[in-house]
Amino acid sequence: MAFTLKARIGRGRTTETFTARLSVGSEELDVAVKRPRPEYAANEAFVSAFLAWAEEQKEIDHESVVGVLEAGKTSEGAYVIQECVDGVSLQEVLAALSKKKVATDPDKTGHVWDEDLDELNNPLPRWWIWLFWITIAFSLAYLWFYPGLGSWQGTLKWTSAQEYVDEVKTAQATHGPLYARLAAADMAALASDSEARIVGQRLFVNYCSQCHASDARGTKGFPNLADNDWLYGGDPATIKASILDGRNGVMPAWRGRLSELDAKTTAAWVYHQSHARDGQAGAR
Ligand code: HEC
Repeated sequence: MAFTLKARIGRGRTTETFTARLSVGSEELDVAVKRPRPEYAANEAFVSAFLAWAEEQKEIDHESVVGVLEAGKTSEGAYVIQECVDGVSLQEVLAALSKKKVATDPDKTGHVWDEDLDELNNPLPRWWIWLFWITIAFSLAYLWFYPGLGSWQGTLKWTSAQEYVDEVKTAQATHGPLYARLAAADMAALASDSEARIVGQRLFVNYCSQCHASDARGTKGFPNLADNDWLYGGDPATIKASILDGRNGVMPAWRGRLSELDAKTTAAWVYHQSHARDGQAGAR
């Protein structure tokens, strides 16, 4: 008696089953061969329990039970030869009856898309698990230091309002001296002060460029402020008056929206633009 394994048709936690070809004398027969999975093959306690189970099964002779024909050991390990019954497995029957998908292969979850796209039952990657724990640790540390849980203020006592106050303080410390200098200077001095012109230009680009264009040269319906042709006057004080009080048409009054200092600095930049040769001066 000899047999040759063909395809694996099933795999359980401890054993696996193959279709096989059995030859007894000149006769050949299709059978199923069950054997311990490789990790159990050398486990003597398991192998003897496995063979004992096979011996018991041999005694059972029933039309609904797959019979055990033979059991034993070869140099390659223990085996149990069973009848091979062609058809669907009980698991497949259950899977077909059940709305919920049942995994028939332990390597797959049983989720199938587009008819044959199987979701494998692989463990999550290590890096993913680490990342998962790290994010949890991070969030716990975060909640320890910062507010986030109920009325807990966090050990750092951080608030967005205080952060804003601190930022304003820092900005004042950095820019305060510059603004103090700008406030003290007169407009003619500001027009020839390159730092003041940078501030003036930024204000102009923010508030005035929509109408007068970013180089102050105007466009159709909005006067060019970078030449020496004025409707109301091109001396610094008149320019500042145009800005603060507005003019006819759609030149809005900026008083209340621009501070005195802003208006003065912007006027100085406009004045500088109009006095640079042919209005071609670089923006700064
Ligand atoms: C909504 C469009 C608009 C905005 C914004 C605007 N202006 Fe004007 N501005 C005008 C118009 C239109 C005139 C011409 C008014 C007139 O014809 O009486 C004008 C006139 C002026 C004049 C007088 C020009 C002259 O020839 O005497 C000055 C100076 C001036 N604007 C500066 C500014 C500055 C500086 C800002 C930004 C703070 C600004 N404008 C924002 C539309 C605008």
